[in-house]
Amino acid sequence: MRFGNVSIGHPFSLAPMEEHTSFPFRKLMRQHGASFVCSERLDAVDVARGDRRALKLLFTNVTEKPRAGQISGADPAVMAEAARNVEEQGFDIVDLNFESPLRRLCKRGEGGALMSDPPAIGRLVEAVIRAVTAPVTLTIRTGPDGEHMTAVEVAKRAESAGAAAVAVHARNVAQGYVGEPDWSVVRLVKQSVGIPVFGSGGVREAVDAVRFLRESGADGVGIGRGCLGNPWIFREARALWNGGAVLPPTLAERAKALIDLAEDEYDFYGPALAIKRLPRMSCYFAKFVPGFDEFKQAVQKIRFMREFHQLVREHFRPRRE
Ligand SMILES: Cc1cc2nc3c(=O)[nH]c(=O)nc-3n(C[C@H](O)[C@H](O)[C@H](O)COP(=O)(O)O)c2cc1C
Repeated sequence: MRFGNVSIGHPFSLAPMEEHTSFPFRKLMRQHGASFVCSERLDAVDVARGDRRALKLLFTNVTEKPRAGQISGADPAVMAEAARNVEEQGFDIVDLNFESPLRRLCKRGEGGALMSDPPAIGRLVEAVIRAVTAPVTLTIRTGPDGEHMTAVEVAKRAESAGAAAVAVHARNVAQGYVGEPDWSVVRLVKQSVGIPVFGSGGVREAVDAVRFLRESGADGVGIGRGCLGNPWIFREARALWNGGAVLPPTLAERAKALIDLAEDEYDFYGPALAIKRLPRMSCYFAKFVPGFDEFKQAVQKIRFMREFHQLVREHFRPRRE
């Protein structure tokens, strides 16, 4: 499968998630088999003016190729300028976010707010395509709310404007992240356009990802919360899709992935922020291991990486119970 000139190896990809999918996390997911990865959403205004925090979150290198950088905004000139910066950072794909339910964004008529205005999305896609040579994709919702399904019209307009693929988060904007996803809308979008269609929403385990593809007919599925603490979900989903099976990861594999991510976050965010992020980040991994409550308490007290290594060594080992 291809998004423009970018080849995508298989259907199981990493869905973008704010505060999670920065470079270290994306790299780990690629290493564990995600077919492509996407940065979290960044304000086009910040990216266009070269804001330091935004550019840091847009750090990438070839170890995570192929990867998309995602921006949101409502002004075609600003989106075009931001897209040029995303491409310059090295991203293979520029992804436009019309997905975000964040009130701050929607109030400004950006992100998910644009799902009520398909022609405006068409114009933004067009402006960005004129500005960059990388393929341009978009991430959308089923519609602004339960009464209005605009995904099909948005996808058709984006395709006419030249978009290389579309990803549908199968919830409407009003649902935020909690409501029941409606995979049937992904199917409708797939039946309406010729470009690749990805979808996401409600994938907790590998079997859900396979069911998503079967039921929606989508070309690919983005795995969001289902990969937190479980990067092995990609290889498991792939094996199931191909009619096979894989063994679950060993404790040693779980410990190694967690330590790799913690060390990469340490380098990426610096000591203070990395240590602050440790409890939340590592609890996603520890949830899969016996003695979660003990780990959760102990990790709050960690001050240095060597203490963290020690805790993981003690905790992620076979127990006799
Ligand atoms: C904490 C969080 C942050 C998210 N941030 C983004 C984002 O920055 N850009 C985006 O397109 N989607 C974002 N999403 C949506 C995910 O990409 C994906 O569509 C959604 O999580 C799929 O639902 P699931 O987690 O129920 O499988 C986010 C989701 C969550 C849970």
